[in-house]
Amino acid sequence: MFWQLILLAYLIGSLSFAILLSRLTGAPDPRVGGSGNPGATNMLRLAGRRLAISTLFGDLLKGLLPVLVAATQGLSVQQQAWIALAAVFGHLYPLYFRFRGGKGVATAAGALLGLYPPAALLALAIWLLAFKITRTSSLAALAALPLCLPLLAWQQPEALWPMALLAGLIVWRHRNNLRDLFAGTERHF
Ligand code: G3P
Repeated sequence: MFWQLILLAYLIGSLSFAILLSRLTGAPDPRVGGSGNPGATNMLRLAGRRLAISTLFGDLLKGLLPVLVAATQGLSVQQQAWIALAAVFGHLYPLYFRFRGGKGVATAAGALLGLYPPAALLALAIWLLAFKITRTSSLAALAALPLCLPLLAWQQPEALWPMALLAGLIVWRHRNNLRDLFAGTERHF
């Protein structure tokens, strides 16, 4: 069951809602406009609030659902966390879109919500605070995910390694944002 769910999570994670919704609605392709990232933030820039929120919820559900299925099947917290990582990996390297995906923030948030809701709430609170101060989505994400890991490590130590790997992958996917943040050229709202 574990390996079937890993595969299923990867296949679900590979569904990029930003790309699918832009195709369905005729909105600009997020891979060629704005930051070039197929994610909710770039959909907000290019296509407006409604499509951005739909993208956010779709991408969030991709992380949440596989973890919930794993939990109902009686898999351990660590197995659930590996399944969460597979879903995020699908978002980053999607099978259906030439392995060119997004940055994984919404999908990771959904996975965190399934694994340990208080950590997801902490991440949300940090994200909102960082965004209110900086008006920068990437900086808010880069602050929120690593900072909620200590709480997760404390309450769900089994999940720590897969989730630390997940946070590392997300930071790696934000390397261009980091470069722009240091150069002072990152996009603000
Ligand atoms: O969730 C993605 C965000 O952290 C950065 O997106 O489009 O500003 O590179 P973007």
